[in-house]
Amino acid sequence: MMSIERAQHELDRRRQSVQTRYKPGYHLSVPAGWLNDPNGFGYFEGRAHLFYQFHPYDSVWGPMHWGHWISQDLVHWQEAPVALAPDQAYDSYGCFSGTSVEADGKLMLMYTGVQPTGEEGKYYQQQCIAESCDGLHFAKRAQNPVIDRTLLPAGASVYEFRDPKLSRTADGYRVILASQGPNGGQLLAYTSPDLNRWTYAGVYADGLADMSECPDVFELDGRTVLVVCEIGADAGAYGSPQVTLYAAGREKNGRFQAEGPLRLVDCGLDFYAPQTMQTPDGRRVLIGWALSWSHVMPTHTLGHGWAGMMTLPRECTLDSNGMLCQKPIRELASLRTREERLESVAVNGRVSLPQLAGRQREFELCIDLGDAPGLTLRLMETQDEHFAITYDRRTQLLRVDRSLCGYPLTPSLQPEPRPWCEAKVPLQNNRLMLHVFVDASIVEIYADEGRVAMSSLAFPRGEAYGASIEAAGASIEKGLSWMMESK
Ligand code: FRU
Repeated sequence: MMSIERAQHELDRRRQSVQTRYKPGYHLSVPAGWLNDPNGFGYFEGRAHLFYQFHPYDSVWGPMHWGHWISQDLVHWQEAPVALAPDQAYDSYGCFSGTSVEADGKLMLMYTGVQPTGEEGKYYQQQCIAESCDGLHFAKRAQNPVIDRTLLPAGASVYEFRDPKLSRTADGYRVILASQGPNGGQLLAYTSPDLNRWTYAGVYADGLADMSECPDVFELDGRTVLVVCEIGADAGAYGSPQVTLYAAGREKNGRFQAEGPLRLVDCGLDFYAPQTMQTPDGRRVLIGWALSWSHVMPTHTLGHGWAGMMTLPRECTLDSNGMLCQKPIRELASLRTREERLESVAVNGRVSLPQLAGRQREFELCIDLGDAPGLTLRLMETQDEHFAITYDRRTQLLRVDRSLCGYPLTPSLQPEPRPWCEAKVPLQNNRLMLHVFVDASIVEIYADEGRVAMSSLAFPRGEAYGASIEAAGASIEKGLSWMMESK
C-alpha cells in the first residue's frame, strides 16, 4: 500500500544518490524521482505554495503523489513534506493534477482521484478534496470523491474527467474540469456551496481536439483568459499534437467565448500543463512543467535518479490584441551577480562571447541586424556541440535547435525527429531583442515583449557552456548579462 510515510522515506533515500550534472540551479526541479505538472499553485497565510505531480519511486511516471514546496518570494523555495499519496480506494491509481484555494483558514486542494475499474487498463477519474490547517499536512475528506462519475452529463467519458481548476465565487465555489465528450475535448463547470455538494453547471468550452487537460481560467486586464492543454491538436499548426494553448475572451452565460484564435502559451520544445495564481500585490504569475509527454529526459535514461523541472515563474499581462505577454518575475533579479555590459560589439563572422557563457546565466541583448540576413547565437557551446538560436530576417522566424547539443530527448537516445521549434518575432526598428536564461539543462527565451516565450531542455555532454554569435554585418548594440546564483 502506498502512503505518505513510505513516499517520504523513499524520497529521502533516493536523494542521496541523485547525480547533479544536469540539475538546474535556479529552476525548481524534483529532489529525486519524477515530476510532471505543477499543482495547487497559490497563497496560504501569506506564503506561496507549489505542489507537483510526483513519483518518488522512480525517475519515470508512476503512481502519482503530490510533492510540495513553499516560498516567500517565488524564487527561494523550501521543500515541504510529501502532501498526498495514493492511499485510498478512490485514488489508488494516483492523485492526479488539481488546484488549491484558501478558505475558512484552511488550504483546500482539489485533485483527481484515479480508481481502477476492475477492467484491465481502465480507471475512473473523479474529483476529491484534501484540506489542511497548517499548510503542510492534508486530510482527505470523508465525502470523497465529491464529484463522482454519476455527476457527468450524458455522453461524457467516465475515464477522461480530470484536472479541476477550483476557484471561489460570491456564494461558494466553481470548478472547471477537463472531460471527453461525444465530440472530443470539452470543459465542464460545476458549482458548490461547501466543496462537498456539487451541481453540474454546463459545458464551459468545447471543440478542444480529442481530449483536453489542465484547464486554467483567470481574469486579466479586463478579459477572461482560458489556458488549456490539448491532446490530438493540429500538429501542422502548432508543431506538436500535444500542446498548451490560450485564448482571451469573455464569459457569457457560464460559457467561455474566445475573442481570437487559440495560440501557444510557449513555443519552445518543452512546456506543458502550466498553472497560474495571483500574488498578494495583484500580479498573475504562471509556472509550467518544462517537458511534455512527447519527450524523455536523459537524466532518467542516464540513471541520474531524477527527471522533471519547472519553468521560471512568469508575470502575465495581455496586450490590446489579447495576446499573452510573459515576463520572468522581477524577484529573480535577486539571484543576479557579476553584471557585465556589452556595447557596440560588431558581428562580422563568428564572435566569441565569454560574457554570455556559463552554466547559470541570464542575459538581455539588443541586436541591430544591420544588413545581415540573419544571425546565429550558440549557447552551451563546446568544440563540437551547441544549442542554436537562429533568426531569419526574411521569414522573421526565431528558431531553436538542439540537434547538435548533447543527449537527445528520446527513450533510446536516438536522434529526435524534430529537435527544433520556431516562433515569429518581428524586428523592431531593425533590432532583435532577446532575454535569455540558461540553467544547466534548460534555455528559456523571451522575445517580442514577452509575446514569445520558448522553453527548451538541452543536455550538452561538454561542461564548458561557451557562447558565441555569428552574422554578416550585425552588431550587438547593447547587452546586459549576469551569472545567476542558485536558489
Ligand atoms: C497532464 C496530465 C494530467 C494528469 C496528470 C497525471 O500532464 O496528463 O491530465 O492529471 O498529467 O500525472
